[in-house]
Amino acid sequence: MDYDIADINLAESGKLRIEWANRQMPVLSLIKKRFGEKEPLKGLMIGACLHVTSETANLVRTLKAGGAGVALCASNPLSTQDPVAASLVKDYEIPVFACTGEDNKTYYEHVHKVLDFKPNATMDDGGDLVSTLHSERTELLDGVTAGTEETTTGVIRFKSMERDGVLKYPIIAVNDANTKHFFDNRYGTGQSSIDGFMRATNVLIAGKNFVVGGYGWCGRGTAMRAKGMGANIIIVEVDPLRALEAVMDGYRVMPIAEAAKIGDIFITATGNKNVIRSEHFEAMKDGAIVANTGHFNVELDIPALESLTTQKRKLRDFIEEFTLKNGKRIYLLGEGRLVNLACAEGHPASVMDMSFANQALTAEYIKTDGKNLKIKVHPVPEYIDKEVARLKLESMNIKIDTLTPEQDEYLKSWKAGT
Ligand code: ADE
Repeated sequence: MDYDIADINLAESGKLRIEWANRQMPVLSLIKKRFGEKEPLKGLMIGACLHVTSETANLVRTLKAGGAGVALCASNPLSTQDPVAASLVKDYEIPVFACTGEDNKTYYEHVHKVLDFKPNATMDDGGDLVSTLHSERTELLDGVTAGTEETTTGVIRFKSMERDGVLKYPIIAVNDANTKHFFDNRYGTGQSSIDGFMRATNVLIAGKNFVVGGYGWCGRGTAMRAKGMGANIIIVEVDPLRALEAVMDGYRVMPIAEAAKIGDIFITATGNKNVIRSEHFEAMKDGAIVANTGHFNVELDIPALESLTTQKRKLRDFIEEFTLKNGKRIYLLGEGRLVNLACAEGHPASVMDMSFANQALTAEYIKTDGKNLKIKVHPVPEYIDKEVARLKLESMNIKIDTLTPEQDEYLKSWKAGT
């Protein structure tokens, strides 16, 4: 079997990590059991470009139990958990192409390795697999039935491809399922970004001016958890509705030019580029810490930071100190890559349980209905979203009410009024 990972000898600890994550993934486990009995994914060859974590390992095991072939590469050069990659290869016979810290060239060589398997379905996180397929491996496009996309950034990219008329097969936006972004993007990013910040720095959050770039679901989650740890939150936004929501959630809202002068900690979560630029770095306090939790490392203008810098040194794992010409020092975490995966382990398994249950059930939907889908970005079918919520509640042993026949009737009628 072809593969490229850091060290196969790490498999033993990787297997234990996968087992530990699996304990927190009851919904995916149920799906895996059913898949194992019926093999509904037989005939699918899935090319997957995902963060290679213990949670992803459990998704891949589920897909394989369902009868699918899977080849996996990383969706970020810093997020691969090498022991997990080793165990996937050794214990689960999955061809994995991912090493933590791989350079850009290797990253794309690994994407190509996955495409060499001639997938008939893709599972992407951020859009690098699909965009490579559409630009450099066009001979494979006819063989692909459909794909899924895990994250906001990828969905935005694919909607642009659809708008420009270049998308060549249907994509299902797993990110947009309610049981994905309400939970993974908010509670997952909220907890794991703070986790990444704390593991990298061990800096006290209480009492700090904590600037969050963007008040989408990831920004909301990050702000909520930092507030819970005693930070004074400042939100920077470009969208008036989101800015208003942030104000009414009790946060200060101001332009980045103002926030830059008073922030102690900055985390961007916008999905856009150059949110923190040259003039903002120059205005920052000596000792400001900057990080990003959006998908790509473009939210902080790192080339601009470099060009303002007279001296740079690695202070400890994941922290680089930039001494600027004006004498102030700025601390950059995890090379500006997503702080939760670069400096910690990403979202906890319990929330990835829902995201990856959506992925697994959507793969089944691609197998049964993929050929009938129009070439565009589609939502996850509502029945899948509802089923994931139902199963998650069941796994938590939480029961809810059902409508009485009278209530049901009332909701359907337009006649009852004042
Ligand atoms: N994205 C964010 N956290 C993740 C995790 N733990 N595994 C896979 N993808 C992720």
